[in-house]
Amino acid sequence: MSFEFPESSPFRRSDFVFGVATAAFQIEGANKEDERCESIWDRFCATPGKVANGDDGTVACDHYHLWEQDLEMIAELGVDAYRLSIAWPRIMPVEGQVNSKGIEFYKRLIAKLNELGIKPFVTLYHWDLPQYLEDRGGWLSRETAYKFAEFADIMTKALGDSVFSYATFNEPLCSAFLGYRFGQHAPGLTEDKLGFQAAHHILLAHGLALPKMRENAPKAEHGIVLNFTPAYPADPTNAADVLAADFDEQQGIHWFLQPIVEGEYPAAIRQQQPLWWPTILPGDLALISQPIDFLGINYYTRHVIKASENGPRQVVLPDVERTDMGWEVCPEALTALLVKLNQRYTLPPIFITENGMAGADSLENGEVIDQQRCDYYQSHLDAVAVAMEQGVDMRGYFAWSLMDNFEWAFGYEKRFGIVYVDYASQQRVLKQSAKYFQQFLQQRAGA
Ligand code: FCB
Repeated sequence: MSFEFPESSPFRRSDFVFGVATAAFQIEGANKEDERCESIWDRFCATPGKVANGDDGTVACDHYHLWEQDLEMIAELGVDAYRLSIAWPRIMPVEGQVNSKGIEFYKRLIAKLNELGIKPFVTLYHWDLPQYLEDRGGWLSRETAYKFAEFADIMTKALGDSVFSYATFNEPLCSAFLGYRFGQHAPGLTEDKLGFQAAHHILLAHGLALPKMRENAPKAEHGIVLNFTPAYPADPTNAADVLAADFDEQQGIHWFLQPIVEGEYPAAIRQQQPLWWPTILPGDLALISQPIDFLGINYYTRHVIKASENGPRQVVLPDVERTDMGWEVCPEALTALLVKLNQRYTLPPIFITENGMAGADSLENGEVIDQQRCDYYQSHLDAVAVAMEQGVDMRGYFAWSLMDNFEWAFGYEKRFGIVYVDYASQQRVLKQSAKYFQQFLQQRAGA
């Protein structure tokens, strides 16, 4: 493989960061070790029927024990940065108390990353709420937002400026809507209104935490990671489909971005679904809309939407390329999304904090040939470059994921890694896509 980095390539910019990403619950395992308490995902996994094959996070990639070799493997890839998350249940397994063993684990990890010259990008919350907080209402309770701010304060005091970039939350949409509205994620509740209330409390938590984070880590960048799935009308000449696709984006994109950037929730939700509107207290939106240093965007696919009596409905187009998740491969929608958001909002610099695909990968003769994933990365990197050429201020790109891991409700069945994990032996094998990245980064360094 050979990559071109002409003078004009936006990826030659020395401040553009390439990295790989993971999340604590998906890789760490050791879920009872060093006093870690139960999280909502441990509880969800233990609830029959919630996770494929009854898989859980007891061992995962055993990263809690293998972290050092994993970080060396990351260094071998030649990336500039590594995005990881902190397990709140390790830090505060007992309410109001700090567990020094939890803090030490992440301190060691961050120190080693810095030693290796890899920029640590830390996400404070990637879905593993301590179960004791869920027992008191979880994200439906305003109190949880204050608890998060306390946790963020403790963590940023402990790690300070040794971390390059902090994100408060990963994908509030998934925690709120998949967790409290559609029931596919922990804690598994299913009511529209609950989803919107949880979303508001998560955004409030983001706003409450930010000032403390800035104070404790004044040199680090502070922001949030949102996931966007752009919606396209099934029939662009059909007005109802166009409206339905727009409404899908009001919920999925603007409900999360507009309050952060503009201090307002989209009026379309109140107009079309007044019963979904959450309780918002005076001052909340001012907290939520404090300036952020960056916006992280996770992008995987697009939705194609048809109007129906029950609201926007997703349709599955025949004859398009799909991944092992059944998600359509659509890099053009990434460019279009970035350009559109850049026109619609005044945005801070943007990182693609996750992008990647699941494949039915297998290890054969010591190799994993994942050509579809190499092509996926190539086309999506191109899509990012086109957005940059069109004026979008992009600062980085992270592949999801470093290695195969616990893919939430799909358990270990879905493999998103650029590194293959043989769960029986915990052996890691670089897939063809990891080698693709290695070469890409080597050639870029030499360009
Ligand atoms: C995102 C999550 C990440 C991973 C990918 C496939 O929604 O942030 O943890 O599961 O999807």
